[in-house]
Amino acid sequence: MSHKAPTQSKKTWIDLQTTVDQGGKLVMVTAYDATMAHIADAAGADIILVGDSVGNACLGFENTLPVTMEMMRHHLEAVVRARPNAYLMADLPFLSYHLSVEDALKNAGLLVRAGAQAVKLEGGGANKIQIVRALIDAGIPVMGHLGLTPQSFHSIGGYKVQAKEEAQAIRLLEEAEQLENAGCFSVLLECIPKELAAFVTEVLNIFTIGIGAGPDCSGQVLVFHDILGLNPGPYPKFVKNYMDGFNKMVIALSQWSSDVKNDLFPGEQESYKLSDVVFEKLAARLSGASQLVSKSKSTMSKRKHSK
Ligand code: KIV
Repeated sequence: MSHKAPTQSKKTWIDLQTTVDQGGKLVMVTAYDATMAHIADAAGADIILVGDSVGNACLGFENTLPVTMEMMRHHLEAVVRARPNAYLMADLPFLSYHLSVEDALKNAGLLVRAGAQAVKLEGGGANKIQIVRALIDAGIPVMGHLGLTPQSFHSIGGYKVQAKEEAQAIRLLEEAEQLENAGCFSVLLECIPKELAAFVTEVLNIFTIGIGAGPDCSGQVLVFHDILGLNPGPYPKFVKNYMDGFNKMVIALSQWSSDVKNDLFPGEQESYKLSDVVFEKLAARLSGASQLVSKSKSTMSKRKHSK
């Protein structure tokens, strides 16, 4: 049986670990469609995550709980069609890995078949460890996710900094070690004190990715829309907007809208033309509809002048 050679050599999680071992930092960003994937790739992201944050960022949900496997697949497939060079991961959404190990395997398998190179799942503890082991046994690389785990925000008391107290901090440290021992290639740390994230990163042999976890993680992740300021906000403290995307886009769309209303768009440059011969023939044929012909002629000359 012959295998089709890949046209581009894809990054693997081993390349990512090598970057960290050599003292480099990793950059991970979410993307939910082909356009975002092209932009993330062109900006040099090491990892693209098709996150279940698609729920709040794009789909208008208040949290990630309504996000289903069908939604994740739909967005993952769009990202895959961009053929990004970045390492491509997808989130296992709420309830896609909680019911049984078989269910987790089936759902992670669907994401891998759709083009994900790894999956991310939230939380620690015995059940999650069993699932991580089964996925890794099936050849599916797994990134863990500890700290603020949005899929359980009802039980952790909302979106707030986690593991500030000694007992919770020790538990998080232990869960991170258990995830590493179960075979995770990385652990994402969300919204925890920076000193704790530094301890975890120091203790683990695998790399950490932080979001609201201070500067000492092996890499950082932010949601695409948050970096570019695409939603009106407010944003969590850990987000830094690098662009006022929302207002920039509103201004651009308003300019276009005003051009349409003032008959400045489309102009000559954005219009297709008949040859003079065909135009004259049509005009003669439509001489009965003289109003239309004269309107068309006057619109054309008006546009010529406005350009
Ligand atoms: O879905 C998501 O965007 C996440 C973030 C923590 C990056 O998991």
